[in-house]
Amino acid sequence: MIPTSIYSKKSRLKLLIIAVALFIGAATVIYTNVLVAKLSEREQQLIDLYAKGLRYMINAEIDSDNLVFIQEEIIDANRSVPVIQTDENENVIAYKNLDIPEKISEKRKKRLLQREIAKMKAQHKPIEVSYQQEFKNYIFYKDSELLTQLRYYPYVQLTVIACLSVIAYYAFSYSRKAEQNRVWVGLAKETAHQLGTPLSSLMAWYEYLKGSPKFENEPIIDELGKDVKRLEIITERFSNIGSVPVLKDEPLLQVVDNAIGYLRNRVSSKVAINIETEFPPETTAKVNIPLFEWVIENICKNAVDAMEGKGSITLRLVKSNTKGAIALDIQDTGKGIPKTKQEEVFVPGYTTKKRGWGLGLALAKRIIENYHQGRLYVKSSEVGKGTTFRVVLNR
Ligand SMILES: Nc1ncnc2c1ncn2[C@@H]1O[C@H](COP(=O)(O)OP(=O)(O)O)[C@@H](O)[C@H]1O
Ligand SMILES: [Mg+2]
Repeated sequence: MIPTSIYSKKSRLKLLIIAVALFIGAATVIYTNVLVAKLSEREQQLIDLYAKGLRYMINAEIDSDNLVFIQEEIIDANRSVPVIQTDENENVIAYKNLDIPEKISEKRKKRLLQREIAKMKAQHKPIEVSYQQEFKNYIFYKDSELLTQLRYYPYVQLTVIACLSVIAYYAFSYSRKAEQNRVWVGLAKETAHQLGTPLSSLMAWYEYLKGSPKFENEPIIDELGKDVKRLEIITERFSNIGSVPVLKDEPLLQVVDNAIGYLRNRVSSKVAINIETEFPPETTAKVNIPLFEWVIENICKNAVDAMEGKGSITLRLVKSNTKGAIALDIQDTGKGIPKTKQEEVFVPGYTTKKRGWGLGLALAKRIIENYHQGRLYVKSSEVGKGTTFRVVLNR
């Protein structure tokens, strides 16, 4: 028995990773927001000083000594915050730190500047600079390039990281699946191969003994024959899992009936197995018989285990909602599967049995979904009442 706790550990680890990722994401956003706020405050101070400088220059005497200082140290020192100085009617007097090409017509330049003013208005209220009640200037300004970039930077960064993580996740899970495939296929091929040699020798012995007068009318020979036949079927299953299986149109009702035959002889008489169909008996579906029988056996064996010796199993061929498909419902009156486990039962290694391997349903799902392009799932289940598995096959 493989402990099931590795699966709950794995999902806990997933949760932990998601929690850490969310935390880092949130911390990045919060931290950058703090930086943005600080930088924005600094730009505000810069622009206030700029406006003060302008106000001083407009109101100062022409020959004031301070003019050069203010021009150089305050007005020219602003190399980052885009500003536009206008008159009362928003006619542009001067601008700075704006990306406006020199060699364009006045008309286009004006249009570009008006657009900038609109953008600036949306961001900040313009600062008023007045000259002794006679006229007014306005200073429009917006966030510097740096501030704008910083504002969006964490989101861009997080989006890129998220995209990369998704790609990495898919790449990893793809390679993990490919690896699992190689293990299933390789192991199955090896098993079929190893069984092959003693089996053909057994078969020869059986033929020999059957023909020998010494064992005439011995029931033992018939039993031996049945076991050899069974071994042959098992080898065929493994060899089919290990190669690309051939799907053929087969009469499904008959295939199901044959598959049940082996089980019928082996389960207690208190377990009733019934087959029902909504279709004419000759209705076909695309199946590989050795593999499909294996699926039915696995599901029915589980059903028998779930009933603890008494109850009924009903296999029903019904219409599927999917176009061009046919469904086989396998219903039992066993102990049921709790809602939270209905997907987990297909995970390799999941078992609740003392002597279980937890591979039956994993294998069945592989056979149906990978080899038959169909679907296998728990259609419904109620604890204490029973379970219905559904197999969907293509017609
Ligand atoms: N019909 C069913 N009713 C109740 N539980 C089921 C049924 N089929 C499967 N299960 C549950 O799914 C588990 C996995 O089944 P399976 O993959 O066949 O492995 P195993 O039979 O070795 O335990 C079982 O241990 C059981 O708990
Ligand atoms: Mg099983």
